[in-house]
Amino acid sequence: MPEEYDEELLSHLVQNGFIWGPEPEVYNGLAGFYTYGPMGKLLKNKVEGVIRDVFKEYHFYEVEAPVILPKEVWKASGHLESFVDPMVVCSDCEKTFRADNLVEDNTEIEAADGLSDEKLLREIDENDIKCPSCGSEFEDRIEDFNLMMETSVAGRESYNRPETATTTYLPFKRYWRFFRKKFPIKVFQIGEAFRNEISPRQHVLRGREFTQAEGQIFLPPEMKNDWPQYEDVKDEELPFWSAEMQEDEDDWESLTLEEAQERGYIGSDAYSWSVFVAYNLFTSVGIPKERIRLREHKEDEKAHYAKEAWDVEIKTDSFGWTEVCGVHDRTDYDLSRHQEYSNESFVVRDSDNNKVVPHVLEIAFGTDRPVFSLLDIFFDEKEGKLEVPNHVAPLDAAVFPLVNKDDLPEVGEEIFRQLHDRKFDVEYDDTGSIGKRYARNDAKGTAVCITVDFDTLDDDTVTMRDRDSEEQVRVDISELGDRLEEWLYTDVEFEGLGKPVE
Ligand code: GLY
Repeated sequence: MPEEYDEELLSHLVQNGFIWGPEPEVYNGLAGFYTYGPMGKLLKNKVEGVIRDVFKEYHFYEVEAPVILPKEVWKASGHLESFVDPMVVCSDCEKTFRADNLVEDNTEIEAADGLSDEKLLREIDENDIKCPSCGSEFEDRIEDFNLMMETSVAGRESYNRPETATTTYLPFKRYWRFFRKKFPIKVFQIGEAFRNEISPRQHVLRGREFTQAEGQIFLPPEMKNDWPQYEDVKDEELPFWSAEMQEDEDDWESLTLEEAQERGYIGSDAYSWSVFVAYNLFTSVGIPKERIRLREHKEDEKAHYAKEAWDVEIKTDSFGWTEVCGVHDRTDYDLSRHQEYSNESFVVRDSDNNKVVPHVLEIAFGTDRPVFSLLDIFFDEKEGKLEVPNHVAPLDAAVFPLVNKDDLPEVGEEIFRQLHDRKFDVEYDDTGSIGKRYARNDAKGTAVCITVDFDTLDDDTVTMRDRDSEEQVRVDISELGDRLEEWLYTDVEFEGLGKPVE
């Protein structure tokens, strides 16, 4: 399916300091690399803050491992051999293209990245797909292109990590001792990963450098169905689109986790719980529920380490349904392989004193995709406003003096400082008309504008203006921080925050 760039959205993101690139723009840009400008970075920080919060709520601990690791690691993890894209070569100009992208662009098939080499070649042949560059036929073979970015450290062949997961697994023995030899062990990592996409498309949804956020649960296999927290979530209804459903319909079904397990879509209580946590991560960052579905991987789509695999998908306006997260049962694949290749034992004893190589369940995603999804979903093109949910608004508030005289700037600066001290993200803006300042902040998604006017000097109140409704209330300066907090993080009505302004 060809991508549909919403040029209006992209230029809004550039103009308003969200995302710039491909970088380095001044040196002719390298596809797949972007700078988050001041507003984009604030938004990304907010999203990552929510993600940290959700993981911590479920007793995961954050770690930070190296980005670069030597070749042996990636040989053991299977990435050297299996982390490849299928390429075809033009028989005339010898240019190479991703076979799955060609099939997606030229047939009804929307997701071709799981298709076998034979099937890809057949589709190219049957649909008479020719080289986009010179129009000649492709050679009748698939070449594997490894997606890892190679580097060298003190002469030792190394790679930038293509996932944070592997780097989270390697210190398993350290966790085991630190967490007092008790399962489950839950850790997460937020950090950069790199994939040498041959032709990156879809903006930051497919950057060559991107930020992953991955939660990992180490557990003995028998614990997968001895997972007490499953009881808390089993009646939650989620939108399941199983592999079986994908065979004959383009529709998914709302099922409780328990029903999904009874139907055999999901194999264990702990995996069910992980799927719920994944879903919860995306609703918590503010993605509307009706834009989320869970899609099961078909057998031939699964990554080399995955026994069970479900994706979380978000419906974006620009690119349709988009994968944003994978939940995988990686079994003992990783630790067994690292045990074999490193000669270190990863065998430990479970609570029954049985020897076990721990299994891993992972919730694997990144932060660029939810950030882009928020921008895509909540951009109101007609109004030129970014109506993202308040709790992730890049700026919580902007403070304006009505005019730059008569002590109004001093009071404005003081309010800026007060709110900043309370850890809000605030901006002080004294340039241009009030209307222009409102419009600038609506475009950036600022949740609330606060104006200091002449009444402020008499009664110590200011106006608070809501971005979406444009309603205003007057609030005592002494209560401003509390009211702002209520507005950002609870379900109050805006009119209830202060005295209405006619
Ligand atoms: N850690 C799995 C992934 O990167 O998809």
